[in-house]
Parts: sequence; C-alpha cells; structure tokens
Amino acid sequence: MNSQVSPTPNKRIYIQEVVTRDGFQAEKDFIPTTEKIALIDRLSEAGYSKIEVTSFTSPKAIPMLADAEAVMQGINRVPGVEYTVLIPNLRGAERAIAVGVDEFNLVMSVSEAHNQANLKMGREDSFKALSSVIELAHSSKTAVNISLSTSFGCPMSGFTPLAELMHWIERFAEKGIRGITICDTTGMANPTQVQQVCEMAQAKHPNLQWTLHFHNTRGMGLANALAAINSGIDRFDASLGGLGGCPYAPGATGNICTEELVHMLDLMGLNTHMKIDTLLECSSDLQKIVGRTLPSQLLMAGKVDRTYTAPCQI
Ligand code: COA
Ligand code: ZN
Repeated sequence: MNSQVSPTPNKRIYIQEVVTRDGFQAEKDFIPTTEKIALIDRLSEAGYSKIEVTSFTSPKAIPMLADAEAVMQGINRVPGVEYTVLIPNLRGAERAIAVGVDEFNLVMSVSEAHNQANLKMGREDSFKALSSVIELAHSSKTAVNISLSTSFGCPMSGFTPLAELMHWIERFAEKGIRGITICDTTGMANPTQVQQVCEMAQAKHPNLQWTLHFHNTRGMGLANALAAINSGIDRFDASLGGLGGCPYAPGATGNICTEELVHMLDLMGLNTHMKIDTLLECSSDLQKIVGRTLPSQLLMAGKVDRTYTAPCQI
C-alpha cells in the first residue's frame, strides 16, 4: 500500500450515520420518540449505506435511548440501507432480535479503564459475554460488527499501544465476525497513528469490513479520515452536525460531522453517494431538536459554492 498517493478519484466511500445513537446518547433532555423516527426517516433518503439507529443498552445507563424498540419498529426501512444498533450484552441482543435489525454492533473498549467505566466490567468478562452474543447472532443469521472503543487513546489511561489494539482485533477476528470499527472515542488519534493502525489492521485481515470512527475533540477528525482513506479505508461513521460523545468517557465531544466529511470528499472527487443538501437541511433542523448551535462549521459557512455580494466601498 502506498500511503503517499492521493485517493483514487471516484472511489466509493461508505458513510454510516451515528447521530441518533452516538449523537443523542449524552443529550440531557429526552428527545421524543416521534422526532427520532422522523429524523431517521429523512436520513434514510440521503444516501447512507448504514444508519446506527439506537442502542439496546440498559435504560439506567443510557436513558435517552430507552425507547429503542419503539424507534426500530417505527422507522421506515429503506432497501439498500442497513439498520444497525449498538449492543453491550446478551440482554440487548435478545431485545434487538425481537424487533429485527440488520446488524449487531457490539461494543467493548481496548482500554481496561474505559471498559470498566462504560460497561461496568473488565475486558475479559466483556469478551466472554460478547462471545455468547456472537453465537446468538450466528444462529439468528445477523451480521456482527465489533466497535473497539479507545482504540487510539483513553482519557483515563492515555495512549493505547498498537499491540494491545491488535490483540483484541485478533481475538474477535477468530470469532467469524463481519467487521470491526476502530474508534477514537475522545479524539486522541493523529494522522500518522491512523495510517499505521489502518495499514496493519487491513494487512492482517483484508477480508474484514473495516470502519473508522473518529471524534473531532482536538480538531484532527477530518485529517484522520483522510489519512485512513489514503491507507485504503472506505467506510466511516460520522454524526450529523458533529453531535456526539460517550457519556462514560471524560472530556468526550462530538464525532466528525457528516456534512463536513461528505462536503470534503465530494469536492475531492470521491464517490459518497450522499445528498449533501438533504444533510444540511436535516442538520439545521437538528439544531432545533437539541436546542442549540451544533459544531458544524459547514452549517455556519455554507458550501464552497456559496457566494456573497461584494461589501460596499466607503
Ligand atoms: N437492556 C435493558 N436493560 C438492561 C440491559 C439491556 N441491554 N442490560 C442490563 N439491563 C438492566 C438489568 O436488567 C438491570 O435492571 P434492574 O436494575 O431493574 O434489575 C440493570 O440494567 C442493571 O443490570 P446489570 O447486569 O447489573 O448491568 P450493569 O448495571 O452492570 O450495566 C451495562 C452494564 C453494560 C448493561 C450498562 O452499563 C450499559 O448498558 N452500558 C452502555 C454504555 C453505553 O452505551 N455507552 C455509550 C456507547 S460506547
Ligand atoms: Zn463515538
């Protein structure tokens, strides 16, 4: 893999929306189920390959997503879009099977400290529990993705060694899963580190579906996405308006912003299949839903083709 070349023009890049899961999970004021459903239905027409609808977590841990069943059952599932959900344990998987989902997105952390904070157990216990969920997924013919949180760094224990990340990738890869998402939970990754991780992960497991999940906590999000594309990655999680963040990761802030990612990739001649104007309309309306300005710079500035009348000469 030559990391010095620019991305191939017209290369397909798959965009996966996470706003109604990662975006909503830390919001304080409950967003009504009908508003969640209406947003997902609009997003389903925007060109995504996957939408992470909700999470089947404990309602005590994530009260905002306590309506997971109602949301999954209320949305209009558009052919060609995969509807995935975050699942922390067997109980969550059983709830998801009862309503029918296209994929289980199982979560655990590479760092012991974040796994304890987020899932209230050690990594070995999580691995054992998730192994049972994978068996259940196989028997119900549901695709499995593993999201590895704190893959690059952890706000409690610092930099994540590459060997530790590869250790957990190897253990899950042996379980016959479809894909792995490498998550930068609190925006600690840099482009050089991203390139190294992406190249090693793909070289070891070329047949896994790889997704990169970045947060823009330190302004490195889009640079990291570009480093990943230059390393051969073609699939990204992103959140409308840049909303997001794990409530159990101190200092967490929003994901990379979907409309900013799509706008940049489209300008570069990559093929996202996305409708940027629909994204901007949805993002603008999302500000009304959450009641505040979102960190989307594109929403503030407009697309690059926005023009102004010349300022008056005094
Ligand atoms: N769905 C619904 N309820 C669940 C559940 C699930 N998937 N898993 C556990 N519960 C319920 C239990 O029934 C129990 O309820 P009760 O108190 O009424 O008896 C309660 O939650 C506690 O169960 P327990 O097994 O002791 O779990 P816990 O308190 O150790 O929490 C997790 C463990 C993983 C379930 C919880 O921490 C969680 O859902 N975390 C999600 C974190 C997350 O989504 N973070 C952001 C994304 S990275
Ligand atoms: Zn995230």
